[in-house]
Amino acid sequence: MQTITLTQPDDWHIHLRDGDYLATTVPDVARYFARAIVMPNLTPPVTTAAQALKYRDEILAHRPKGSAFEPLMTLYLTDQTTADDIQAAALSPAIAACKLYPAGATTNSEAGIASITNLYPIFAAMEQHQLPLLLHGEVTDPSTDIFDRERLFIDQYLSQLVREFPELKIVFEHITTREAVQFVRDAGPLIGATITAHHLLYDRTAMFQGGLKPILYCLPVLKRDVHRAALLEAATSANPKFFIGTDSAPHPRHQKENACGCAAGCYTAACAIELYAEAFSQAGQIEKLEGFASHFGPDFYGLPRNAHTITLEASPWTLPETLPFGADALMPLRGGELIQWRLRTETQQSA
Ligand code: NCD
Ligand code: ZN
Ligand code: ZN
Repeated sequence: MQTITLTQPDDWHIHLRDGDYLATTVPDVARYFARAIVMPNLTPPVTTAAQALKYRDEILAHRPKGSAFEPLMTLYLTDQTTADDIQAAALSPAIAACKLYPAGATTNSEAGIASITNLYPIFAAMEQHQLPLLLHGEVTDPSTDIFDRERLFIDQYLSQLVREFPELKIVFEHITTREAVQFVRDAGPLIGATITAHHLLYDRTAMFQGGLKPILYCLPVLKRDVHRAALLEAATSANPKFFIGTDSAPHPRHQKENACGCAAGCYTAACAIELYAEAFSQAGQIEKLEGFASHFGPDFYGLPRNAHTITLEASPWTLPETLPFGADALMPLRGGELIQWRLRTETQQSA
């Protein structure tokens, strides 16, 4: 049986939510990810260092016994964020970055930024304190075609941002287009990008196959297959600017399967590294998974690579169709379907 052993991976973009939902999300992410960049788009959002540290404690309280999983916290930038907020975040070792949501771009982004240029003094403070900027990179003009929103964000905002703040580390999160791949590839070494497993495996046609599939609806929305191919090429290219970030984003079933407005976000934390392994092996590039999943993220953030390893084997298994999610149910991506790769547990390893 084909197996692959990797340095333990990290997840550089995940939504763990809060309250009862942490009992599902934290054990799932902690199965093999050593660290994860935790998104701050709670309601209300996590906008100060004090709130981020409190949220971190809630996450740690749900960490399985014996797990050393480490949540890396982020601040949600708003029009009210001050340079003092940035300094306080920079002084806290548990806070790794700040996240910019253009207002209205995605789930829980109502408190996001109305004018990116108004935030330039904040970016200057982040540059000075070496705090990375994480971007949900889509324009929000409701008249802009949804499939063009990421591409237009590059021309309208990102190019200028990168020019104005040459020392600012920026992660273009969950990229979905060949234009984003090209931009990141051509930019300097401080510009990186995360890529999700679902954007490597699915194109927009999959969302409509056999009837509308709410489970595949996320933002930025899945694109044409030529974009998926460009993402796969980038992820498997051993270029350290492209690294793992699952964007696992759970919503209760009644909000996903909602006839009057399906919530955006795919839950992949129950089978994330397994899905990446599937994408890489389908491309004949499984040996490139370790760099993408375990090396390039910590290198970009200036953190040590993990010391432990995990082993995956090509041995199909079926993920449950629903998972418990507080008082709700959660439909994981690929629930009830075969997953081609399996995590080898320590007991199996020593057998
Ligand atoms: C995310 C969520 O549900 O919080 N949804 C999504 O479709 N990706 C928000 C985000 O990452 O944009
Ligand atoms: Zn986003
Ligand atoms: Zn996200």
